[in-house]
Amino acid sequence: MNILVYEAREDEREALRRQGETLGVELTVCEEVPTLENAALAAGHQGVSILGQGQITAALLDAWHALGVRYLSTRTVGHDHIDLGHAKSLGMRVCNAAYDPDGVADFTVMLMLMCLRHYKQAMWRGQVNDFSLAGLQGRELRELTVGILGTGRIGTRVIRDLSGFGCRILAHSHHENPDVAGLAEYVDLDTLLRRSDVISVHMPLLPATRHLICRETIAKMKDGVVLINCSRGELADIEALVEGIESRKIGALGMDTSEGEEGIIHADHRVDILPNRNWFYLHQFRNVVMTQHMAFYTDAAVGSMVSCGVRGLWQMANGLPCETEL
Ligand code: COI
Repeated sequence: MNILVYEAREDEREALRRQGETLGVELTVCEEVPTLENAALAAGHQGVSILGQGQITAALLDAWHALGVRYLSTRTVGHDHIDLGHAKSLGMRVCNAAYDPDGVADFTVMLMLMCLRHYKQAMWRGQVNDFSLAGLQGRELRELTVGILGTGRIGTRVIRDLSGFGCRILAHSHHENPDVAGLAEYVDLDTLLRRSDVISVHMPLLPATRHLICRETIAKMKDGVVLINCSRGELADIEALVEGIESRKIGALGMDTSEGEEGIIHADHRVDILPNRNWFYLHQFRNVVMTQHMAFYTDAAVGSMVSCGVRGLWQMANGLPCETEL
């Protein structure tokens, strides 16, 4: 089998090489983000593996299909960047990654603590030997109510992690997860928004969840609410976040993902003009911690992403069950 691996980072290459060798698969590895313009790179490959920075539109799928591509893997858990319905209509089989939720959950709790303890400001001051305390008085989690939106694998792991901190935990989700029993109280969305001091979003990006955090929902939250997003940027309307920070309705933001992050994240922009004004504007506030969509980025997760990305294609092409097929 021949596979074209798009968006291969330097740190994936050795694992990709080993995985290909183990499975007897021929891998072509490139850095390009998939687009219609570079679709021809896939000629002669049955399988294509991607990482999630490009939009996999119907037109791109058609182009790949015409070149003989029959299997697609995304080395990501999220798959909102793929037109799955169109892939299905072409008979193209698609799988994703299934790395453990622990890395993202750890990062979520870290952002909560950084926000509650004003750590961005403390770190900035430390750079210039300013070790003063003024303005850095924080809040303790055990005195707070944390609201978790979405109790899939990651939301539930965050709830487990938080249960050791002694805070009250509220949850709201499309499906109630039995693993949450005894750790969090399920409530309706409005109750969670009204009662939570900290709110963290862990939902997939769907038409129904896009801009779940918007002017209307922010207005229902407590004054000074801490908002965390380590899921998908588009779950929160970035204009509404800017207004919330400017008006001080939002006390702090911890965002590993943000709307309009494409073209910014995972690259060095030291000498560039950033392509998104809102992103840059929010980024400079002392009470906004923005990271480069890196919550997933651990040794364990990267190993699993590479393995799912190549093995999944090999399984589907060889008529074997693929546990991550979408
Ligand atoms: C995912 O796995 O869904 C992610 O968000 C990580 C990706 C940006 C590499």
